[in-house]
Amino acid sequence: MWENLDVALEKVSVENLKEKPSSENLCFGSDFTDHMFAMTWSRENGWHDAKICPYHNLVLDPAAMVFHYGQAIFEGMKGYKGKDGQTYMFRPTDNLERMNQSAVRLCMPRLPVDKVLKSLKALLYLEKDWIPEAPGSSLYIRPTMIAVEPSLGVRPSEKYYFFVIMSPVGAYYKEGCNPTKIYVSDEQARAVPGGVGNIKTAGNYAASLYTAEIARKKGCSQVLWLDAKEFKYVEEVGTSNIFFRIGDELITPPLGGSILGGITRDSILKLARSWGLNVSERKITIEEVLRASEDGTLLESFGTGTAAVISPVGEIVYKDKSYIINAGKAGELSQRLYAELQGIQYGELEDPFKWVE
Ligand code: COI
Repeated sequence: MWENLDVALEKVSVENLKEKPSSENLCFGSDFTDHMFAMTWSRENGWHDAKICPYHNLVLDPAAMVFHYGQAIFEGMKGYKGKDGQTYMFRPTDNLERMNQSAVRLCMPRLPVDKVLKSLKALLYLEKDWIPEAPGSSLYIRPTMIAVEPSLGVRPSEKYYFFVIMSPVGAYYKEGCNPTKIYVSDEQARAVPGGVGNIKTAGNYAASLYTAEIARKKGCSQVLWLDAKEFKYVEEVGTSNIFFRIGDELITPPLGGSILGGITRDSILKLARSWGLNVSERKITIEEVLRASEDGTLLESFGTGTAAVISPVGEIVYKDKSYIINAGKAGELSQRLYAELQGIQYGELEDPFKWVE
């Protein structure tokens, strides 16, 4: 059990350290640091064998349950190097708590958040030379849990593997901070009421790929998802939450069970409310968005997520008709929110909500 456990440290020998990519022009998630964190769970022993070890391939039984029934959850968080040379993460406890909500929904074991956080901080410090320093770049942190018991019975696995890998990243979208063009899906839905849309499980992303391909063929970089019952209410965009500024109201759909409760979404809501803006978490139909675009009251729209940070939307394509937002340019509020959020994350601005730790 973890109580009796010291996290082992197996370091990569100096001559085997990888070459680090240049901080400029980093892609998203294609380079990985020298070390990772890993531990195992079994019904008899709980979490055990926790270690920081060299980044390595996994050897899994082909019958491991993750391959067959998709018991896999993950998180996305980011690490930064502060002006003081120390390493920081943005709201890591919230991410780990959210991972535990995902774990409960998929009948997987909960993580001991404090202990994992301590190990993550140690891993981030060990890999501090991998934290890129170009503007907009960071070290993306990917905690993942998979079912590894070899069995073809459909039931929760009796054995799990948890690991954390890290990747130096630049902007998620090739557009960077430039507005994206998004395709409204009125045939496939991302998540159903009562389903798993509100947790971060791998299957949600696999299910999004088909529609993302349709979007790509239409020259769009992401999909705007509508509700699965009526294809009427806006839910999310791509891998992010969505915001609209209509007149003096900043609107995002409420977390009704099929939408992922983004940590960045929550941060934007808190920041905007602290500035005294008129912020609503309310249902919004695609018709309302498009009407506002046509009558000129849709001033801007943006997606929020750990990977994407704040990604302005410049154009919406619905039933093959195109609607341009803010003349295709990033809006004033999204730029202000981006600057504030990044300022807090990089330790350049005050952190009134104590998000950085
Ligand atoms: C994140 O924003 O961290 C995500 O998990 C999106 C990812 C699937 C790229």
